[in-house]
Amino acid sequence: MSAEGLDLGGLRRVYGRAGSRWFYTRVARNARHWGWTEPGQSKWRLWRAQRQLQDVLGRKLALPAGARVLDAGCGTGSVAQAMATRFGLTVTGVDVLDFHLAEARRLGARAGSDGRATFHWGDYHRLPFGDGEFDGAYSMETLVHSYDPARALAEFHRVLRPGGRLVLLGPISVGPLDELAPRPRALIESFLEAMTMTGARIYHAGNLSRLLGEAGFEVEEALDATPYYTPTFEAVHAYFRLPWEVVRRIGDPAKWINLRSTVEMYEVREHVAWYVHTAVKPTR
Ligand SMILES: C[S@@+](CC[C@H](N)C(=O)[O-])C[C@H]1O[C@@H](n2cnc3c(N)ncnc32)[C@H](O)[C@@H]1O
Repeated sequence: MSAEGLDLGGLRRVYGRAGSRWFYTRVARNARHWGWTEPGQSKWRLWRAQRQLQDVLGRKLALPAGARVLDAGCGTGSVAQAMATRFGLTVTGVDVLDFHLAEARRLGARAGSDGRATFHWGDYHRLPFGDGEFDGAYSMETLVHSYDPARALAEFHRVLRPGGRLVLLGPISVGPLDELAPRPRALIESFLEAMTMTGARIYHAGNLSRLLGEAGFEVEEALDATPYYTPTFEAVHAYFRLPWEVVRRIGDPAKWINLRSTVEMYEVREHVAWYVHTAVKPTR
């Protein structure tokens, strides 16, 4: 199943509005992803949780220093920089938003990764790289935007060498949306539409491993990491519930799409999970 194609206008609206930029720059310190909190840790330390999530990714990639890794949907490059500086990986980031790439290059110049993270325009459904060029690949909360997840996974498979590793992290609906009751389904579909999250309407916790298998991967682990993400989810909801109410009543809600999505997602939290899928391209 696939949708129409790359919705660049939609992505520009999601990430380009002043409210989104403020949210990601100030609140998330340039990372455009959730966070990982260990049992017993405070949920209020969002930046530590984001750093820990990046470390989970680095450990799941489990690649030696110098390995070549694709960051599919690199945003402004904070994950790529983390993989380069903390794990010694050589990271090639691709993204379809020119303003994200410009920011990734600007921030990269002062990140101390000695050029081990580079950034290029590219749609991860049709990557500008040859077969088997990478030892690893990851998608940190980007597959949700895929207009054709099966094709994206096939493309990751193509650019990985045999034995190469893929890690997918992100929110995912627990099951097919058409099996939900009308109210949660309407809420989820409306914010997925607003966030241009086409992929998240196609894959879910019940079928992503199968899609990986069909793309030629062996799934090593499909980890339901929801308990580690929930503290960040709760903290973000607590921070933004009231600001969102104010914006909704007296501001322009369309400009604050991220506030909306964090609050509305929380209302349907029993239907949302976070997964970390680790898969390998077989050597035979
Ligand atoms: C939630 S952000 C995550 C950015 C980064 N991975 C991070 O964690 O900070 C999603 C990113 O995926 C990018 N993206 C969406 N669809 C894409 C596609 N087809 N090809 C490449 N990048 C894409 C968006 O432009 C955006 O920068």
